[in-house]
Amino acid sequence: MNMKKSMAALAALSMLQLQAGGWSDAKDIANGKSLFANNCATCHGPEGIGPQSPALKKKRTDGKYQPPALNGTAHTWHHAPDLLRNIIAKGGKSYGKGYDGWMPEYDKTLTQKQRDDILKYVHALWPEKIRKRYDERFGIETSPSSGFVWK
Ligand code: HEC
Repeated sequence: MNMKKSMAALAALSMLQLQAGGWSDAKDIANGKSLFANNCATCHGPEGIGPQSPALKKKRTDGKYQPPALNGTAHTWHHAPDLLRNIIAKGGKSYGKGYDGWMPEYDKTLTQKQRDDILKYVHALWPEKIRKRYDERFGIETSPSSGFVWK
């Protein structure tokens, strides 16, 4: 098979996998929703609307970020799936480049599947227009680096 043909086959395969579940699998999203409420909402707010406590809203004096909103109103949706997966797995430490983040890591307490379900839930929180743009850009990505497929 030539390169072009195998690329097309791969894209078709990814499409199939996406249709079979993908970003919008209702069971995964429901699972992600309760995991988010239990693990993430204290900082990122209910349904990712952003921090609610005054202490988390106030600008920090140590140069660190406060937890951003994840519901599509901030810039989360500009990040590729793999980058978001990495932040959830490794927390603030994953930022690198001299930024010492303070979000906890979840690769010890949540499985990959649980973390991916949370990400699917976060994706489902975004307004439809943003979600569509995101999916066109990243949605059927099979991430050869990690072997990750949205299914
Ligand atoms: C203790 C507070 C805290 C908890 C709990 C927390 N986060 Fe975060 N999160 C942060 C902070 C702070 C940042 C900004 C980076 C940093 O400084 O670590 C962040 C950044 C992020 C980002 C990057 C957003 C962007 O727009 O760049 C994602 C995605 C994210 N968190 C998801 C989650 C998920 C999913 C959970 C639950 C599994 C979670 N966070 C739990 C504090 C938290």
